[in-house]
Amino acid sequence: MNPLESKLSAELEALKSRGLLRQRRIHCETLIDFAGNDYLGLAAVNAGGQSDNKTPVGSGASPLVSGYSTQHQELERALCQRTGHEAALLFCSGFSANQALMTSLFNAQDRVLADKLVHASIIDGLRQSGSDFRRFRHNDLASARTLAVKQSPLALITESVFSMDGDCAPLTELKALCDQHNAWLIVDDAHGFGVPKGAQADCNSKLADVQLVTFGKALGCQGAALLGSQLFVDYMVATCRHYIYSTSLSPQAAVTALTALKKTDEPQLGNKLADNIASFTRLAAELSLPLMASSTPIQPLLVGDNHRVLELAELLKQSGFLVGAIRPPTVPAGSARLRITLSAHHTDEQISALTATLSRLINPLNRA
Ligand SMILES: Cc1ncc(COP(=O)(O)O)c(C=O)c1O
Repeated sequence: MNPLESKLSAELEALKSRGLLRQRRIHCETLIDFAGNDYLGLAAVNAGGQSDNKTPVGSGASPLVSGYSTQHQELERALCQRTGHEAALLFCSGFSANQALMTSLFNAQDRVLADKLVHASIIDGLRQSGSDFRRFRHNDLASARTLAVKQSPLALITESVFSMDGDCAPLTELKALCDQHNAWLIVDDAHGFGVPKGAQADCNSKLADVQLVTFGKALGCQGAALLGSQLFVDYMVATCRHYIYSTSLSPQAAVTALTALKKTDEPQLGNKLADNIASFTRLAAELSLPLMASSTPIQPLLVGDNHRVLELAELLKQSGFLVGAIRPPTVPAGSARLRITLSAHHTDEQISALTATLSRLINPLNRA
């Protein structure tokens, strides 16, 4: 056991000895429910009034009261099968899952390392945890190594695919560094999960001791999960305030996410997305567009100036394209950018029209 696992295990034992261990049980539908908060009985009202759809919209309560259902368990099992982790727990959003994770695992006695560009929800969670957290330079192994030697951290946190840059973390090397220092590797896989391998560089999140996946990105749904060892999930169930004191994910959302998860196996979707990324980057290179280095569906185009990026986004809108204008503090000062994201739904015509418009707007010589 590494230091973090020993800490979780000791805290679980202490709770057990005081009769305070919390565990989940599947809500048994044959019992008459006097536990939930579904005061008008409306949780079971089905979407669109379809009487044959028996999956309730509302879970009716938090997971430890009566809000943990077979739909949740089936989704957790499928996620474990997909990722290779032992156990999982579901949240209503990735933001709350990250905050829950950081505030449950760490406190003022703990030292943690994180990549400089990790998501706001991780930073906010680490701040709330009171832990001594340091950030290493983005994807910079030497910087991570130096801090790991100084800090002896309990864990190192990164993203698989960075949300605003589209690049991938060197997970194999970071995992080796964590192993050297007896620390956990925690990976926010919000933008990697569900995207087939062929459509992005190898962001092997299976190296993670804890993996966060979200359903609001490639799965096109809503919600999130944390995956890891049974010890980790038992600890979260017993101590995580976001999990214990919040209504669980809608069972219908769980069913929808499970259906979407199965769809991500369809090779034609992955192949189309890979083709779209390849044709976008090829056209952008031919037109000398200043794309940042990325082989994932996230293709940022560096602009620099905050006003200019807003102006470009507005001009793109007038030409019929919706593209995100990303400014500080979401990205570092001076690195405002257009965040272009590709999907399997884009057509070849749409991609060449976008690149041609970008070229006209960005390269003055092409305006004629
Ligand atoms: C890297 C990363 N982690 C977590 C989240 C939060 O996920 P959700 O949108 O499900 O709250 C996001 C959302 O933008 C994200 O980009």
